[in-house]
Amino acid sequence: MLATLNLSFRYQDETVLHDLSFDFGAFPVTGIVGANGCGKSTLFMNLNGVLRPQQGAVLWQGKALNYSKAGLMEHRQRVTTVFQDPEQQIFYTDIDSDIAFSLHNLGVDEREIARRVEQTIELVDAGSFRHKPIQYLSHGQKKRVAIAGALVMEADYLLLDEPTAGLDPSGRQQMIEIIARIAARGKHVVISSHDIDLIYEVCDGVYVLNGGKIMAQGKPGEVFRQASLLREAGLVQPWLVKLHSELGFPLCKTETQLFNALREPKEA
Ligand SMILES: Nc1ncnc2c1ncn2[C@@H]1O[C@H](COP(=O)(O)OP(=O)(O)O)[C@@H](O)[C@H]1O
Ligand SMILES: [Mg+2]
Repeated sequence: MLATLNLSFRYQDETVLHDLSFDFGAFPVTGIVGANGCGKSTLFMNLNGVLRPQQGAVLWQGKALNYSKAGLMEHRQRVTTVFQDPEQQIFYTDIDSDIAFSLHNLGVDEREIARRVEQTIELVDAGSFRHKPIQYLSHGQKKRVAIAGALVMEADYLLLDEPTAGLDPSGRQQMIEIIARIAARGKHVVISSHDIDLIYEVCDGVYVLNGGKIMAQGKPGEVFRQASLLREAGLVQPWLVKLHSELGFPLCKTETQLFNALREPKEA
């Protein structure tokens, strides 16, 4: 189980994360939502051990993270992170080698590598562009390759920092499906985003972050009902929640659910 306890982090003299306690094991898909600059990426860098909190701790199974080289290597096999910019995480020009990179580093057996690469390519729908050089891929396709490179580790937790940033509507929809597929395989997923509609649709539990502090936490339907709290955090309500609170429409998780609910013949 991944968690943090009273974690605070500062860059030089600016404290960016304040006394944060998260339990990422509580829900299959957890969302961290907050405006730009609220500390989401810094949090993720703390969660994977790139940055070390000055106070409090990152916990795995209740134990504080061990920052030795071996400790971090072990941690990153349990918790894999995909950062916003896929370019930072792509090392090769061909997709198969890139996805297999970390497994080669760990000395995993070739047949096992081949099995896992096939599986992750399928999971992120990369089959159709698998043989293209990576530099010719679109941003969304590169993002999926970066996700495959993390999934191939078969870690318990996948952290996705702004997974839909820079994607077009179809790329965004595809990302939603990929996240659902990953969660269906029993992985825990943690997503950071300022895309509140995305977080509302895909997450089972959410935290609202504002200025590096947790403002609210709980089930998306309950947290996102609080319009003034979201406004204070520099966010707006998800459109599906707005339709519910402003117009009394049924509270639905997805557009499809809403349309189906509205199409159902009303009882006389
Ligand atoms: N390397 C850094 N050095 C100093 N300050 C930083 C650094 N990276 C981010 N910050 C600051 O920390 C705050 C949180 O940034 P960040 O974690 O990137 O937020 P988010 O991902 O939510 O947009 C911002 O005020 C940002 O300017
Ligand atoms: Mg960020």
